[in-house]
Amino acid sequence: MLANQNQKIYIAGHRGMVGSAIKVELQRKGYTNLLYRTHEELDLINQAAVKQFFETEKPNQVYLAAAKVGGIYANNSYPADFIYNNLMVQNNVIHQAFMSGVEKLLFLGSSCIYPKLAEQPMAEDALLTGKLEPTNEPYAIAKIAGIKMCESYNRQYGQSHGIDYRSVMPTNLYGPGDNYHHENSHVIPALLRRFHEAKMSKAKKVVIWGTGTPRREFLYVDDMARAAVFVMELEKKVYDHHTRANQSHLNVGFGSDCMISELANLVAKVTGYQGEIQFDASKPDGAPKKLMNSKLLNNLGWMPEVDLASGIDRTYHDFIKHTPNQ
Ligand SMILES: NC(=O)c1ccc[n+]([C@@H]2O[C@H](COP(=O)([O-])OP(=O)(O)OC[C@H]3O[C@@H](n4cnc5c(N)ncnc54)[C@H](OP(=O)(O)O)[C@@H]3O)[C@@H](O)[C@H]2O)c1
Repeated sequence: MLANQNQKIYIAGHRGMVGSAIKVELQRKGYTNLLYRTHEELDLINQAAVKQFFETEKPNQVYLAAAKVGGIYANNSYPADFIYNNLMVQNNVIHQAFMSGVEKLLFLGSSCIYPKLAEQPMAEDALLTGKLEPTNEPYAIAKIAGIKMCESYNRQYGQSHGIDYRSVMPTNLYGPGDNYHHENSHVIPALLRRFHEAKMSKAKKVVIWGTGTPRREFLYVDDMARAAVFVMELEKKVYDHHTRANQSHLNVGFGSDCMISELANLVAKVTGYQGEIQFDASKPDGAPKKLMNSKLLNNLGWMPEVDLASGIDRTYHDFIKHTPNQ
């Protein structure tokens, strides 16, 4: 893809966990003309500001990795923020990208777009076949709207304007730059913080919500960034051949899952915590299993490279580096 390396590429959310990894991956692949704005410089909720930004900068490509993201607690506590912020950001970016002539765009969704009781592993065609998990329904609805927005623009303007807007649905991601906030974080950063703090305070016991038996899938963020660039670089005829006009998204998963209890033991080992791990079965477990079917993307040639143990080890080193008072 040498011809594309001077293309002006805007990474929305370049300081986030995924956006920063996409930035590094694009640089690694020799892309030289990258464009970013911090949240302070450009609030993507602000339609007029986004319009002006695209009119002035006129990028050729966009990676849309800016979103309001969080774990169960945050989704449950701030549903209005999750639906409003995400719809506004993606509507503004996708529409203004189109208006300013952006040819290629990648929208990042999430595995929570799939129904709560979807057949496992969840394939792309499970979308809109059943009810969503109520806790993150507002976030999931926004993500589904993002996929449908890309598809609708492709269908209406693909031929006349030569646009090609794609979507990827990542599984649970983790890695350097993750959010370690004690209430708003996802499971891996939350466990890393808890076990690290337990080690530092010499706590004898760490209690984890649920039975520890649910199975979840995790993908290291650098693998996700490789997948994002890989999908953007696919030739249009190849992408179109493997997707459909009204089902155009591709799953990005690790390909296998692990039990929460196994994950907890792994995190305890990486952090050096030696106390007891207790599971509180009186607390809710969530779905027994959540695994994506990523065969479509695997058949196109992308595979993950970082296993869970080394990914968690790298993430812990990043956590230590950025946590004061070590
Ligand atoms: N993390 C996961 O496990 C996971 C799993 C599946 C899919 N995804 C998807 O991957 C994408 C990136 O997620 P992430 O984990 O990298 O999230 P993140 O670390 O929270 O990064 C999101 C970035 O978007 C920026 N942003 C949010 N609202 C903005 C606004 N109104 N204007 C400008 N910038 C704004 C944030 O800036 P501030 O921090 O300054 O607000 C942040 O830099 C999202 O679409 C998410 O849905 C993530």
